[in-house]
Amino acid sequence: VSRIGVLTSGGDSPGMNAAIRAVVRTGLYYGLEVYGIMRGYQGLMENDIKKMESRSVANIIQRGGTILKTARCKAFHTEEGRKQAYDVLKSHGIDGLVIIGGDGSFQGAVKFSREFDIPCIGLAGTIDKDIYGTDFTIGFDTAVNTAVEAIDKIRDTADAHDRLFIVEVMGRDAGYIALHSGIATGAENILVPEQKTNIQDVIASLQEKERRKKLVNIIVVAEGDEFGGANKVAEAIKQHVPGVEARVCILGHIQRGGAPSCLDRLIASRMGYHAVESLIEGRHNVFVGIQNNRMNYVPLENVGKRKGTISSEWMKIVKILAS
Ligand code: F6P
Repeated sequence: VSRIGVLTSGGDSPGMNAAIRAVVRTGLYYGLEVYGIMRGYQGLMENDIKKMESRSVANIIQRGGTILKTARCKAFHTEEGRKQAYDVLKSHGIDGLVIIGGDGSFQGAVKFSREFDIPCIGLAGTIDKDIYGTDFTIGFDTAVNTAVEAIDKIRDTADAHDRLFIVEVMGRDAGYIALHSGIATGAENILVPEQKTNIQDVIASLQEKERRKKLVNIIVVAEGDEFGGANKVAEAIKQHVPGVEARVCILGHIQRGGAPSCLDRLIASRMGYHAVESLIEGRHNVFVGIQNNRMNYVPLENVGKRKGTISSEWMKIVKILAS
């Protein structure tokens, strides 16, 4: 490779800028030309591309969001869209592509890499941590810390009023943000999509706590939980536990913003560096993960594979510690 492109795609995540910086500076170090592609696959198709220098990524490692902007692009999932993108890359002489994004973005890359001769490398950038083959995704740690900070604050007011709070966190169909933030804030219950939610159990445990006069309760619900999110859970509880003072708080996009944590900056820097090395060494059409502190190069084809589970041990710990 001699000229590479880098883009961010799908939902942004804190640390994407650190990853862009690592890709640009590693590429330049190895004598490559590096092009920043704006707004993900959308900007690629629209030829919204600019040459990057070392200075272009100065002073961004600490910033949330993505300087390249991002988009969820439906057109790239069509054959015509991908052909258009290929033509743009060819016109710039770009012969390698680094895609920083999540599941959906990698699915696009799988199709693209099957059809065209431009090698693609993925970097797992998503707050959801829902990617097979990596212990970390860029942004997860920051999002969890943001959620923890928010839930700690909620506990203060919950305690002052002796109230039950049901807090909904993001994660799409994965429950990791809920699990990690719930454990770290001492939540009395955590509802995740990976485990069947038995609302009767949730209610029974609240009633039992009421008997013991444990009035402050926090339930963290993953947005993808099959019961249907915090509002549904609150409704069911209010129906079955008369007189309960329950409040709902949906944390929402606050979890996607903010300065990346040290861990996210570290993994983004490491993954970005290895993405460029992979392109140079001919390790193509993989995404770069980290497993057991080692780089793990997972074929893009494996995207969508089993994304890991939440062990029943963790759920047992939640129960015991909240008693
Ligand atoms: O994938 C990241 C994520 O923040 C999910 O947790 C959430 O379900 C989704 O994106 C929200 O997407 P949007 O910002 O497009 O509403």
